[in-house]
Amino acid sequence: NIGQLADEANVKVYVVGGFVRDLLLGVNNLDIDLVVEGDGIAFATRLARFLRARLRVHEKFGTAMILWEDQKIDVATARREFYQHPAALPQVEASNLRQDLYRRDFTINALALQLNLPSFGYLVDFFSGRKDLDQGLIRVLYNLSFVEDPTRIIRAIRFEQRYDFTMEVETLEFAHEAISRKMIGEVSHERMFDELLLILQEKNPVPALRRVTEMNLWDYFLPDLEWSERLERELTTLTELYQEVKDRELVPLETRWMPYFLILTKHMKPEGVKLAIDRYPLKMWIREAIVELASTNEQTGLLMEQSLQYGKLSDLDKLFQGWSIEAFLALRASYALPKTVELLEAWHIIKKCKTIITGKELKEMGIKPGPHYKTLLNQMRWDRLDGIVQSYEEELEHLR
Ligand code: CTP
Repeated sequence: NIGQLADEANVKVYVVGGFVRDLLLGVNNLDIDLVVEGDGIAFATRLARFLRARLRVHEKFGTAMILWEDQKIDVATARREFYQHPAALPQVEASNLRQDLYRRDFTINALALQLNLPSFGYLVDFFSGRKDLDQGLIRVLYNLSFVEDPTRIIRAIRFEQRYDFTMEVETLEFAHEAISRKMIGEVSHERMFDELLLILQEKNPVPALRRVTEMNLWDYFLPDLEWSERLERELTTLTELYQEVKDRELVPLETRWMPYFLILTKHMKPEGVKLAIDRYPLKMWIREAIVELASTNEQTGLLMEQSLQYGKLSDLDKLFQGWSIEAFLALRASYALPKTVELLEAWHIIKKCKTIITGKELKEMGIKPGPHYKTLLNQMRWDRLDGIVQSYEEELEHLR
């Protein structure tokens, strides 16, 4: 029990932020943020030892991260701005946590649960976050919040749309004010890209993207993008596709954002795409996927279905060649093509299929190395996919 450990270490420990917000909303959240009034790193070390979990320490920031099974626990030291007379300790401690929470973005993220044993589970709510949660309001903690950190405007949009909340009137005014003063323009492209990714990683990013459009913020993400009903429909189709495959490991979770991003780029002029590519730290294969998608059309997708229905797996493999799964998903969603789940299943079977014989063995057999190795192995793989070859012996046989 964390509370017991905290008592033993003689520190006060709280779970704060998104975890508390989601707990009160009944939403799953695996990321735990702890704030320690006292030595955060020492406590994190103790906790990691207790959990037999991995620990990463950032001395400079007084923080540490514990990786425990599939959970991430961030441990921070409450900012201690000033010291007071020892007799005033409880107040000082309270004000530490209070200050730590006050510098955060919204009231709904500034709730804390005490973990120490006598008051385990006690909700610390300095800024009426609970009430805002109940009323569905996103409210900043201080007037200059968006000026100090304009990315919070994007966060506000994200939370608002995720929980179907609204920005509280004054908060919305602050946001508009910061937008009209072009504060978001001060944020680096990298950080803006991160914010875009966070939106695109949402379960359903479409409402937040629509809000970005309404608030006229595309200039800060993808300047050339023109929102349209067609674009919205394509993105929605992708969300529906994700929902359809929800419990099956057919699509990679970490790159969920990418097909959305690819669809967005498909709706931009080449100059705009170039600008985005120059501006953001996109990996090579993502750049390639953008080009790949731009150069294909509905016909490419239709061929895949036909091949699934009437052809052999090897035909499908040939059609899949050069495609990343992300670009493939973007293609399917943007033309609302049917049979995508079946194709995804085939995709995984195909990508897993390998020959048993390797290039090394071909060499040992005395076959002179060269580009024909690839042709040979590819052919054998296709025969395997089509069931013509099923075992190692048959592979050898096939070679003769
Ligand atoms: N935070 C902030 N300002 C930011 C980013 C984060 O004040 N620009 C604070 C928020 O109070 C948030 C905490 O730091 O609760 C942790 O940030 P993060 O992990 O991004 O937020 P979560 O609330 O956990 O969001 P999500 O559910 O999207 O992971």
